[in-house]
Amino acid sequence: MSTKLSAVKGMNDLLPEQAEVWEQVEAKVGEVFRQYGYRPIRTPIVESTSVFVRAIGEVTDIVEKEMYSFNDALNGEALTLRPENTAAVVRAAIEHNLLYDGPRRLWYFGPMFRHERPQKGRYRQFHQFGVEALGFDQPEADAEQIFMVARLWKALGLRDGFVPKLQLNSLGMPQDRALHREALVHYFQSHQSRLDEDSQRRLGSNPLRILDSKNPEMAELIANAPQLPEFLGDQAREFQQRLLNLLNEQGIAFELNPRLVRGLDYYNLTVFEWVTDRLGAQGTVCGGGRYDSLVERMGGKPAAATGFAIGAERLILLVQEAQGLGSPSAPDAYLIHFGKGARESALKLAEQLRDQGLKVVLDPGQTSAKSQMKKADASGADLALLIGEDESLAGEVTVKPLRGQGQQATMPLSQLLATMDRRKQDNA
Ligand code: HAM
Repeated sequence: MSTKLSAVKGMNDLLPEQAEVWEQVEAKVGEVFRQYGYRPIRTPIVESTSVFVRAIGEVTDIVEKEMYSFNDALNGEALTLRPENTAAVVRAAIEHNLLYDGPRRLWYFGPMFRHERPQKGRYRQFHQFGVEALGFDQPEADAEQIFMVARLWKALGLRDGFVPKLQLNSLGMPQDRALHREALVHYFQSHQSRLDEDSQRRLGSNPLRILDSKNPEMAELIANAPQLPEFLGDQAREFQQRLLNLLNEQGIAFELNPRLVRGLDYYNLTVFEWVTDRLGAQGTVCGGGRYDSLVERMGGKPAAATGFAIGAERLILLVQEAQGLGSPSAPDAYLIHFGKGARESALKLAEQLRDQGLKVVLDPGQTSAKSQMKKADASGADLALLIGEDESLAGEVTVKPLRGQGQQATMPLSQLLATMDRRKQDNA
């Protein structure tokens, strides 16, 4: 007996009804990103493992335990399914010299892979809408990206209560973080007996990550740890103040969260997350920030940069909760056919109507006229068009309006084409 085949755990099929919502959201996101001059970039979903290790950092949850890495036995390369796309976009920008004539605004959409424990809003294959502004070193770029996300919430019809809330922090400059790190190490060393095993290990390698511990027994120790904002130098303070002023001027609400550290090592100065309480535990819909040293660290000429990514599954769950979008557009006509010769006439007529730019669904023609009519109604189409044996012989079609007033009528195909053309012009 063959075993039942199913999708890989944590990786989802999107069936037509859901995929149609995705298409709507994808279209809106692309529209908003393009409004700001972002241009698309598509990179492979597999990269050399070193691309991610170098960018994200060796002592991060992603690199330590969440990457789908494998050895390509044919040529002995260490490869990884991308867990995020900032590293790959920076790799591509350097490889193709994209910054040769100045800064670039880039955006992408696609699947990412992380071996996390699946639950609502957290998957092993998930999708991100992301943007990367490469070569931008001023807070106006951070502000513009935040404006763009705020505009997107509106474009997606998220009403009050469903709009995610913006949390902001500054991770400072490397020298600020070095001072903070020193203070943290000192603090945790003096409480070493209270550290769990993971944190003991991180004390030597990446003490900042101890702050991310979800272990409730560590909560109090972490709450009293020295906080980064106390160590920010003048440059970081001024940068943050300028950003906050820009947000205030534009009426964007935010909350400063000194504990926001993010799980990837490439950030400095601005970091932010948009969080909702409508999705349960996985409420971070969007995360990002500035990564001024990454381009250089990946082998390019120094170029400051800032970006963010939105989790598509979480965004779409939220849009559905908020019932922000209308239903996807229904066909203009549903074409029913039965009897000898009708199948061919119907196929041809559907093609002629599509030449006029109409959306026409052709019934598979395997059931009775009555059950085809039910499907026509369920499709949401304005009109059902019928070709039976008689119509087919006479070169005619029966038109039955499905919504509103209007009488059923049989007419020559040429008259239908002319009528549909007029209808379309009237509606334009
Ligand atoms: P991230 O915070 O790791 O940042 O991911 C961004 C967003 O992707 C999260 O806020 C969440 O909505 C979604 N996400 C992450 N993991 C999962 C998962 N397992 N299942 C479902 N959704 C998930 C980055 O990836 C950075 N590359 C963002 C960035 C771009 N920073 C600068 N430029």
